Amino acid sequence: MQFYFLKILLTLLEFYFCLTFEQYILNCTLVSTMSKNLRSLSGRKGMEENLFEHLSALEAKEGAFDPTEVQSLADKYLVGTSTVHGAASFYDFLNPAKSGKKVFSCSGSACQLSGKQAEVDNKLGKHFEKSEIGEVYCLGRCHETAAFHLNGHNYSGVAIDHLEQLLSGEKSVLPDTYPAIALGAGWLTSAEEGPEHYLDALKVAVQSDRNQLLEEVHRSGIRGRGGAGFPLGIKLAAVLKEKADRKYIVCNADEGDPGAFSDRYLLEEKPYLVLFGMAYAGILTGATEGVLYIRAEYPEAIEICKKAALVVNALFPLPSSTGEQVDFKIYVVKAQGAYICGEETALLSSLEGLRPEVRTRPPFPVQYGLFGKPTAVNNVETLANLYPIFKRGGAAFKGVGTERSSGTKLLSLDSHFNRPGLYEVDMGTPLQTVIEELGGGMKQPVKAYHIGGPLGGLVPAFKTTELTIDFESFASNSFLLGHASILSIPASYPLIRYLEHLFAFTAHESCGKCFPCRIGSTRGKELLQKAQDNQLKIDRELWTDLLETLEKGSLCALGGGLPLPVKNALSYFPEELNAYFK
Ligand SMILES: Cc1cc2nc3c(=O)[nH]c(=O)nc-3n(C[C@H](O)[C@H](O)[C@H](O)COP(=O)(O)O)c2cc1C
Ligand code: SF4
Repeated sequence: MQFYFLKILLTLLEFYFCLTFEQYILNCTLVSTMSKNLRSLSGRKGMEENLFEHLSALEAKEGAFDPTEVQSLADKYLVGTSTVHGAASFYDFLNPAKSGKKVFSCSGSACQLSGKQAEVDNKLGKHFEKSEIGEVYCLGRCHETAAFHLNGHNYSGVAIDHLEQLLSGEKSVLPDTYPAIALGAGWLTSAEEGPEHYLDALKVAVQSDRNQLLEEVHRSGIRGRGGAGFPLGIKLAAVLKEKADRKYIVCNADEGDPGAFSDRYLLEEKPYLVLFGMAYAGILTGATEGVLYIRAEYPEAIEICKKAALVVNALFPLPSSTGEQVDFKIYVVKAQGAYICGEETALLSSLEGLRPEVRTRPPFPVQYGLFGKPTAVNNVETLANLYPIFKRGGAAFKGVGTERSSGTKLLSLDSHFNRPGLYEVDMGTPLQTVIEELGGGMKQPVKAYHIGGPLGGLVPAFKTTELTIDFESFASNSFLLGHASILSIPASYPLIRYLEHLFAFTAHESCGKCFPCRIGSTRGKELLQKAQDNQLKIDRELWTDLLETLEKGSLCALGGGLPLPVKNALSYFPEELNAYFK
């Protein structure tokens, strides 16, 4: 009820400030035209000399960007200084207010749930001033936890006990080891074939008919692995259909879901598999440029992929069967620390050097994507699956998994499992098999699993026998497979604290575009904090309104998805949580 009231109020306010309906419409149109103009101004220089990487090179001194540098970037790209400043200051690793950090402690869910992070912070505190220690949401070391980032490298597990050696330069890198095991087809975790196999495959692909390549993708039934499960064939077909002077394939490697490290695995261990997927999607759709946008929290992945991209790029142009030269160039771009850049429209704005706020759709990226050109944005694992489809054919791919969820799925298991690590299973595999047979059971009693990232459902331990690893099983039980990271919540860990962590994460990562998420996440966090400090008992009606406003009023799934795990917690664990509510 309050949600509708707020919506009406907002519209009235808009009317009040714009005075007339015509001005209201004009206002909306102007905002959209302005962003279109900014997009095409930034697009004049394209990826070759993109504004985002220039922003990334801005250095904050004494808590502010150098105004001369900001002005010269604004002049070069014909945009205002506010556009440059507004974009750069958005990112955790660029924001002047957060400069001066020398080490970053992981605030990701796995590290928090492990109970080891306080000790890490304590030990870091012996070598660094408080102001020098930053926080980062998830370094993808969820299999070991106790993670931190120092001098361009990530560390976890016992590394914190080697801090003095790391600081003295005696050791700069410690091995990151975890099992990567398959149960079933194992297409993504089998031994890397070596670059020459993928390069040969690309030579064959350019000789093939685009529509036949597309037909195989359709036949495979593959659905996107980034969370929403959208059919890849439909997306690629839409880009192929568009007529444009430039088209793009964007690989979304901003794997920000705390608990997930399967994209990191592919980028570090199977870079050619991923790059093949991008180039293949380019050949299929007629896109000539690819962008691999990798989160800054994965420095090793960035280095590995940059080297591999040089090899793949050197192969092009390749002659097609009609004698036409097929070109494709991959740019590997380092992100700058913002979870919301995993959302595809925010990612595109980020690459354009604009403030990475979520955009309304339509228009969809397949028609109006990067710099306004047709663009397929796909997850790392989705694109990595194009090689198995190409090699075995769409029908063989479809033969693995379930009717509507074909192929395999990578899963990330956190440090509470006896055998934490990365596992690949055929879609349709029982969750219990994953927990007991692959993960080897739990080190301590667990009451719930948070599966599919922060916006995924909270699955109580007793429900795990009812689920299988596929989109339908999770959806029909009102959960979400998402990117299929599995975080365990120990029986001893207070759920109220975990809910507060989820609200804090959303408040930190909200892009601020819509008020339910921008304001609601912070208010929710405050309520949960106060309830734990015994300052108040949460009013149930107010809480229900807050969740409903988030769910129905948010522009994207960050705000809109937050209520799912919260509602799961309230309905499955009332005896634990009732005490905090009126
Ligand atoms: C808040 C938010 C964060 C997201 N983060 C990611 C991400 O890190 N990686 C990803 O592939 N998709 C992410 N997505 C989904 C993307 O918007 C998009 O659906 C996906 O990249 C499409 O690729 P796919 O079809 O291959 O799954 C996110 C979505 C939202 C709403
Ligand atoms: S829900 Fe949050 S992250 Fe998504 S558009 Fe709204 S403010 Fe931005």
